Amino acid sequence: MAGNIRTIGVLTSGGDAPGMNPAIRAVVRVGAYHGLRVMGIKRGYNGLIHGEMDDLSPRDVSNILQRGGTILQTARCLEFKDEAGVRKGVEIAKVFGLDGLVVIGGDGSFRGARDLCKAGLPTIAVPGTIDNDIDCSEYTVGYDTCLNTVKDAVDKIRDTTASHERCSVIEVMGRAAGYIAVQAGIACGADVILVPEAEWSFDEDVLRPILEGKSKGKRHSIVIVAEGIGGVIEMAKEIEAKTGIESRATILGHVQRGGSPTVRDRVVASEMGGLAVELLLQGKQNRIVCMRDHVITDVDIDEGLAMKKTLPQQLISLVRKLAI
Ligand code: ADP
Ligand code: F6P
Repeated sequence: MAGNIRTIGVLTSGGDAPGMNPAIRAVVRVGAYHGLRVMGIKRGYNGLIHGEMDDLSPRDVSNILQRGGTILQTARCLEFKDEAGVRKGVEIAKVFGLDGLVVIGGDGSFRGARDLCKAGLPTIAVPGTIDNDIDCSEYTVGYDTCLNTVKDAVDKIRDTTASHERCSVIEVMGRAAGYIAVQAGIACGADVILVPEAEWSFDEDVLRPILEGKSKGKRHSIVIVAEGIGGVIEMAKEIEAKTGIESRATILGHVQRGGSPTVRDRVVASEMGGLAVELLLQGKQNRIVCMRDHVITDVDIDEGLAMKKTLPQQLISLVRKLAI
């Protein structure tokens, strides 16, 4: 099988994440190291379906290691969710002589990768999303850079919050997951965090800690809310109305998806992109490259998609203990 792999494609799909560029670079260079031709496919599965791809040489990926976003652009391609879209993708891959594909993205992208394998194109998936919400992997490319961006932003918000003796309610990304919120909560010393993975009530989990903090001498407070909970503008108004503490809301938004990847993201992305190529060369397909017990390894896509990881509840309680 390995001898059959001569040309491979690489694409990025779904929301972009810092570290996608180092992952692309690793696919291209590890591929070139093994004598493969590597083609960069534009705009995720859209580019595959429409044959938008070009050769990428090791020099074409010079100077991208430190750049956020993805040089291949990305897309959420609805057409690819249908069987016809997948069939078209495999046909176009044949036209361009692709023997294998590396898909960098989130779990929707992995479903597309699985469908491509079933339809005849060997594909390996690499987790790239700031949300860290891939169940079979302890880590996803982009998470660390995002956390550092959130840390910088919350530190700045704290400066002004403290000066005005206010309460700041800050919404962070993560779609339906609270990984960004909980780690940012610890790193930034939040008084309260709200995540979809834990039940909460406004009186007990928001008002009480803010008022108790005030009675213990805290002169300002930081509330971090995962986007899966939302409603930060109304929450800030309600806090102000019920406590008399002037409150402001900030939605950090897409600033969290940009920026130069951190060392961690560059290294993990390089390892994961490199392993994806090695797996194709070993004749493997339908695998997700992932981190398990701190080691970069791989699992079957169907098995990986069926796994469940849970946000450690002790991290949520640690935020509460640290906020004493
Ligand atoms: P994000 O979480 O940022 O949306 P994903 O990696 O989950 O990122 O990307 C979702 C995209 O994956 C979809 O827009 C679609 O283009 C692609 N996709 C392909 N096949 C499927 C599928 N079976 N289910 C969901 N998404 C799919
Ligand atoms: O999956 C990454 C992510 O940034 C989520 O945290 C967020 O819910 C979503 O993408 C935002 O997507 P869009 O770029 O379409 O606004």
